Amino acid sequence: MTALDDVSTSEAASLPFHMRGNYAPVMAEVEAFDLAVQGAIPAELNGRYIRNGANPKNGPTMHWFAGDGMLHGIRLLDGKAEWYRNRWVQTKTLAGADRMDMSTGTADLTVGLANTHVVRHAGRILALEEGSLPNEISPDLDTMGPYDFGGKLHTPFTAHPHVCPETGEMHFFGYELISAPYVTYHIADAAGNLIHCQPIDVPGPTMVHDFAISRNYAIFLDMPVVFDLDEALKGSMPFMWRESYGARIGLLHRDRALRGEQPRWFDVDLCYVFHIMNAWDTIDDQGEHVYLDAGRHASMWKGGPDAFEPCYLWRWRFDLATGQVHEEQLDDAAHAFPRIDDRRTGLTNRFGWAVGPRPGAAEGMDSPTGLVKYDLQTGTQTRHDFGPSSSSGEPVFVPASDAAGEDEGYLVTFVYDKATDSSDFVVLDANHMDAAPIARVPLPQRVPHGFHGSWIAD
Ligand SMILES: [Fe+2]
Repeated sequence: MTALDDVSTSEAASLPFHMRGNYAPVMAEVEAFDLAVQGAIPAELNGRYIRNGANPKNGPTMHWFAGDGMLHGIRLLDGKAEWYRNRWVQTKTLAGADRMDMSTGTADLTVGLANTHVVRHAGRILALEEGSLPNEISPDLDTMGPYDFGGKLHTPFTAHPHVCPETGEMHFFGYELISAPYVTYHIADAAGNLIHCQPIDVPGPTMVHDFAISRNYAIFLDMPVVFDLDEALKGSMPFMWRESYGARIGLLHRDRALRGEQPRWFDVDLCYVFHIMNAWDTIDDQGEHVYLDAGRHASMWKGGPDAFEPCYLWRWRFDLATGQVHEEQLDDAAHAFPRIDDRRTGLTNRFGWAVGPRPGAAEGMDSPTGLVKYDLQTGTQTRHDFGPSSSSGEPVFVPASDAAGEDEGYLVTFVYDKATDSSDFVVLDANHMDAAPIARVPLPQRVPHGFHGSWIAD
């Protein structure tokens, strides 16, 4: 059953896009065991795929991003789909608490939506949303509560931390809205201890959704979507496009950060970036360079808070000797939710995967989508089409083994079919994107379009 079954068509049409179709929330928390599998789940896929998304419990929200977090998880073991279940993250927001005390201008960091991502680090699974602390969850999707690194974390926590594959450290940041420092950089060591917190100098309350690490640098975005207190006080979407803010990208040497150094900032052409694919650095006889591949929007919310301008894959190359930055578009088809083999985070990657429009389909929030694999070495793409009425979620790469190469493994995601109003969990061969799925698991209810997820291996 959908949230819209009991409203008339005209009422549904008056709702914002994020309350209609497969953006609409599901109201039931269900579970199913020993699910039927079409094809065969690879025996080495032992773990859980957990995906987060906005699923407002108490009626329409002012923006797609403002819904209560709901996790959808599927447990795979020995070639079986042991269970599927969906659970709201039991946040304080869901219990009725307010994050902001407008009379004092202070925020309670334990109050959040937990709706954007779910990651594991140092044995903890964290549901994330960038305005608050993480909420720790159990492997079975029960909420354990806000997590503040033993009382040490005093800023919000991004929805996009990045784990260095060489050190095991989790690098992340938090951004704040009312007063400086607007951005703070944090590092947790491989054991999960918060070992570094450093204010980053930015001129205003910029909305920073993601950042990147390379082997030697932490890379910060400072871009012109900024917080507006007056809009917040009116209860409107408080972030807006402000061209006058400018756009720049900061490179902070990871070792020198530990001694308190600030980033070196590079002005770039006006744009907005939600999601980074990857970054890496090189030192050779050509000098020292940092590369950043990310989804670039020419603007964001310029036409209002529901106007998501399309996103194209771009590469920025920073020359540390000359201070010059070179900006280059890598693909002329839009994409969303770029991912890589996480073992290549901060290192050179040949491959990336993302959601892309179905060939011939218009770009738009309601258009059918498939998946695209980028070969950044050859400059070619391979696409997977799930059919004319289907839309894919973010592709999460799972290596076939610890020794497997960069694209030797699987993509896991949820795929929604508008024709049947139903969703499947799908496994693709990441190396043969155009082949039929290896496995499909029809789910007991549709999975609304959501945000990000992770494979939590056993
Ligand atoms: Fe995101």
